[in-house]
Amino acid sequence: MAESEQASRRMSLGHDDVLRWIRAFGTEVDANKEQLTQLDAAVGDGDHGINMQRGMSAVLVKVDAAGEEQDIGALLKTVGMTLVSTVGGAGGPLYGTLFLQMGMAVAGKDELSPDDWAAALEAGIAGVQARGKAEPGDKTMIDALIPGRDALKAALAGGASFEDALRQSADAAGQGMRDTVPLVARKGRASYLGERSAGHQDPGATSSHLLLEAAAETWGEPEQTG
Ligand SMILES: Nc1ncnc2c1ncn2[C@@H]1O[C@H](COP(=O)(O)OP(=O)(O)OP(=O)(O)O)[C@@H](O)[C@H]1O
Ligand SMILES: [Mg+2]
Repeated sequence: MAESEQASRRMSLGHDDVLRWIRAFGTEVDANKEQLTQLDAAVGDGDHGINMQRGMSAVLVKVDAAGEEQDIGALLKTVGMTLVSTVGGAGGPLYGTLFLQMGMAVAGKDELSPDDWAAALEAGIAGVQARGKAEPGDKTMIDALIPGRDALKAALAGGASFEDALRQSADAAGQGMRDTVPLVARKGRASYLGERSAGHQDPGATSSHLLLEAAAETWGEPEQTG
């Protein structure tokens, strides 16, 4: 492989990269807070935007205080614990579980390969499902996360670059998010609406798309040199 080509291909993620992704997710949540609130007002109680924003601002304070001596597993666990302890309702603990289980999957690591990242995401999603019992099609965050995970794994298995795999993952999560519109909610507050929940995009699937979009955008650029 030519040197220039190699430089443009990201082979692993360090602590700083993971931190940049977490910050980018916080920025996405801020920028989309109104949309998340409106979506949750239609099928829930209208607090998803503010819940996620409160959680992510607490996360940013915590990770700044923790500094760089944490390994990536510890960093992700800090994010998860902060979300669990600062966000009420269903969404916060579910996102908290996602990050906690991702952190457990990469405990002690200072660097993640693309496969490590895929394994972390897989473990995080398994944690969300163990906790919330949602299956695909229940109109939850799972409906964005699972297509995102599957597209990532398929792309990596097919020999795609990490950048391309992340883009395909984010796009699949976006499709999964849009596909929640006609679904009838079977979990959480939205399920109380029964058939009336159909016709609205799920707020949690929307924020989960932002999470994977943030990864594609943060790590999709060529690595900074010097
Ligand atoms: N059991 C579950 N498994 C996975 N995701 C869930 C579950 N219950 C709710 N969600 C997700 O949480 C989102 C709502 O998050 P929010 O921050 O508004 O918490 P909440 O108002 O306490 O939740 P809820 O509306 O579920 O009571 C939903 O859009 C859905 O994607
Ligand atoms: Mg809500």
